[in-house]
Amino acid sequence: MKRICVAIDGPAAAGKSTISKIVAKKLGFTYIDTGAMYRAFTYYVIKKGVDPKDEKASCALIPEVNIELHKDGTVICSGEDVTKVIREPLVSGNVSYIASYKDIRLALVEQQRAMSKRVSVVMDGRDIGTYVLPHAEVKIFMIASAEERAHRRFIENQEKGIPTTLEDIIADVKKRDTIDSTRAFAPLKPADDSILLDTTKLTIDEVVEEVMKIIKEKTE
Ligand code: CDP
Repeated sequence: MKRICVAIDGPAAAGKSTISKIVAKKLGFTYIDTGAMYRAFTYYVIKKGVDPKDEKASCALIPEVNIELHKDGTVICSGEDVTKVIREPLVSGNVSYIASYKDIRLALVEQQRAMSKRVSVVMDGRDIGTYVLPHAEVKIFMIASAEERAHRRFIENQEKGIPTTLEDIIADVKKRDTIDSTRAFAPLKPADDSILLDTTKLTIDEVVEEVMKIIKEKTE
């Protein structure tokens, strides 16, 4: 079978990773969570006592950072299991600064492209359809209202035992969307050939169904 790339982009907490994981499993594709890579890098910067707003000092850590995404969802950063800690508010609140630095993006994008070379993938992020995999067979830009996104992330955090308030999440999501969509290099925006999918009023099963339908149409 031909190798297929499915790119799923969109603003914070739009449900990209939940859907991507399910769809990848159904199709036997590899799921690649690029956000986890930016989060892992951010965690490493904070752990080293570097200010994430300091571009030069953050980029100086590139040679030390080695991120592994495992099939079971485990994220290892330079030998440490960071799967849980990268979802904490301290990381969420700083990740968009780190993700705006071109040198860090170039290093992580190289890895993302390499991961999609040999297998079919569902890759989610902000710049997958526009920059990382511009030739992806399927490009979906997933959106939902800001209230719905914040609500979903609130429930998700509660389930994961991450203490946050709805107000804090609304502020975090808004801040990240603004930084992500206004940065100079590879900003968050729909690719010209992407399909817009508004999930505000849809259940997870309905979104999965819709995505599977789009993939089928685009690849048959
Ligand atoms: O899951 P959520 O929508 O909260 O975010 P994520 O996918 O884990 O991504 C976290 C952050 O990483 C985003 O807010 C972006 O700043 C950055 N990111 C990016 O710049 N490019 C990507 N391809 C993926 C994430």
